[in-house]
Amino acid sequence: MKRTKITDLIRCTDYGTDVLVKGWVRTKRDSKAVCFIALNDGSTIKNIQVVADVANFDENLLRSITTGACLSVTGKLVESPGAGQASEVHATAIELLGTCDADYPMQKKGQSFEFMRKHAHMRLRTNTFGAVMRIRHHMAMAIHTYFHEHGYFYFHTPLITASDAEGAGEMFQVTVLDPENPPRNEQGNVDYSQDFFGKHTSLTVSGQLEGELGATALGAIYTFGPTFRAENSNTPRHLAEFWMIEPEVAFIDLEELQDIEEDFIKYCVSWALEHCQDDLEFLNKMIDRGLLERLRSVIATDFVRLDYTEGIRILEEAVANGHKFEFPVSWGMDLASEHERYLVEEHFKRPVIMSGYPKEIKAFYMKQNPDGRTVQGTDVLFPQIGEIIGGSVREESLNKLQTRIEELGIPMKDMWWYLDTRRFGTCPHGGFGLGFERLMLFVTGMQNIRDVIPFPRTPGQAEF
Ligand code: 4AD
Ligand code: MG
Repeated sequence: MKRTKITDLIRCTDYGTDVLVKGWVRTKRDSKAVCFIALNDGSTIKNIQVVADVANFDENLLRSITTGACLSVTGKLVESPGAGQASEVHATAIELLGTCDADYPMQKKGQSFEFMRKHAHMRLRTNTFGAVMRIRHHMAMAIHTYFHEHGYFYFHTPLITASDAEGAGEMFQVTVLDPENPPRNEQGNVDYSQDFFGKHTSLTVSGQLEGELGATALGAIYTFGPTFRAENSNTPRHLAEFWMIEPEVAFIDLEELQDIEEDFIKYCVSWALEHCQDDLEFLNKMIDRGLLERLRSVIATDFVRLDYTEGIRILEEAVANGHKFEFPVSWGMDLASEHERYLVEEHFKRPVIMSGYPKEIKAFYMKQNPDGRTVQGTDVLFPQIGEIIGGSVREESLNKLQTRIEELGIPMKDMWWYLDTRRFGTCPHGGFGLGFERLMLFVTGMQNIRDVIPFPRTPGQAEF
């Protein structure tokens, strides 16, 4: 007999047919005559109830069926008399595929997220992490579908690179040299010309620079892959290894770029509401009572388009009216998350797309405004999350770009190929990066970014 997945079984009304289900025991309840087993196979948040007549089964077998054990059950699908489920399986045969030791860490309900992170290899078996991981899958499908339907090409950029795309110096080195005894040049420095790639290399912090090569040839591309940052940020919103989606488009201006940012996020959130109903309802009930309402309201509202300078004015006004921020507010500063959240959650009460940042706080590649002070960077700020997207129109003038690179002292010897885009048929273009796990935080209502990726990488943490 072919196995039926529980997601299909719970919708099936062919009562009386024989079925085969396999899965892990969530709970077991015994009465004198019958034993009720809630079985889950990960295909849905919902369990199927298996009913076993004690008289028909070996006592030792029934005793071995504990929370976490893995079973294969053959039985009849019947309409359930009990509340809470439409159907159940009356077992005719039970095979114990895997017993579960008594120290199974996910045995008890209501463990803390902290505890579950220490057992991240087993937390996937819980309702919450099952829901989060299924939603994660659906969000990836939403992203690919959105770009595919809008004529973007999925473009694969390298993970190992010699260039620091953000110029922030937060890269993990990639080397095969012996750290105890590396080859040295005449000056006594490590001689990377003898390393695997013949130069100093790292894991990428962004696929943008190569993405620009793609966009200025194919018109519109997107990347979707892992990204690595060696920033020592121990916050609920930073990972050292995260997934980023980076679309890059030729022939667009700032307003069109912002339109794409808004349309894209709304598409992803609508997709979640459409494809992840059961899991979202569970999270709404168990994790965050305001989740579904927040998701629906984001789709229905226009995002605010806010100039940085105006944003600073609003924050200064708040300070004048007695609002206390930890960090002082002044033109030129980078917004801290408390400032972003004030604008989004208290002042406007909806997502904000900010632009026109001082050039000093943004990356070298952003298009410079005629005022000489600001650039066409555009971040999307979200309730609870803060920055969910960072993007910009790119500086297409070779001259201005080179001047900025020199001002910042960025080593460009390995980026000649990037500058070539500005020499050979340069064009207006722009793009952005969406942090996949930041989107996941918003869509699931989870509070910590470590809980929306299967195996988080953060400072001091690379287990599993
Ligand atoms: O603002 P960022 O640094 O922009 C870039 O990397 C550009 N190259 C993107 C582009 O224009 N193509 O990062 C983009 C987004 C942020 O808005 C945030 O959502 C996410 O990536 N992000 C992180 N997510 C988790 N952990 C971290 N350490 C992150 N750093 C950035
Ligand atoms: Mg940013």
